[in-house]
Amino acid sequence: LCCGINPESLPLQCVLTGKWINDLGSTMTIGAVNEEGNFNGFYHTAVTATSNKIKVSPLQGSQHHINQKNQPTFGFTVNWTFSDSVTVFTGQCFVDEKGKEVLKTMWLLRSHVDNITDDWKATRVGINIFTRLPPQK
Ligand code: BTN
Repeated sequence: LCCGINPESLPLQCVLTGKWINDLGSTMTIGAVNEEGNFNGFYHTAVTATSNKIKVSPLQGSQHHINQKNQPTFGFTVNWTFSDSVTVFTGQCFVDEKGKEVLKTMWLLRSHVDNITDDWKATRVGINIFTRLPPQK
């Protein structure tokens, strides 16, 4: 054994199901991934582009499941319950060099605008990196 890393406890697979936190402090819980690769969950954002009070919002997504890849690609949509906006995330579930699962994602946040002339400023883009939250009691 080298360097305090026990290869026995290293995940060989990256699994989406569970609780995650990102670099902004937002958390999400992803439920079971079904036979077709579909999943549901909940997203608690730490930040908002609005002045509304943040509420936990549902997410729906799908994971690529063809040929049992161990670092699957995925996407999900968050339909914000406290704003008129929608965010889509897409990314890949990796096992990093320390054996830790990490979700590397990019997102598009579409805000509602009243007029088509404001369409040009209605979409934000960014990245988020999620790590698994240790099981809570
Ligand atoms: C809104 O402000 O209308 C809804 C909340 C948007 C939160 C965004 S989604 C992309 C980024 N990553 C997060 O965890 N939160 C922000």
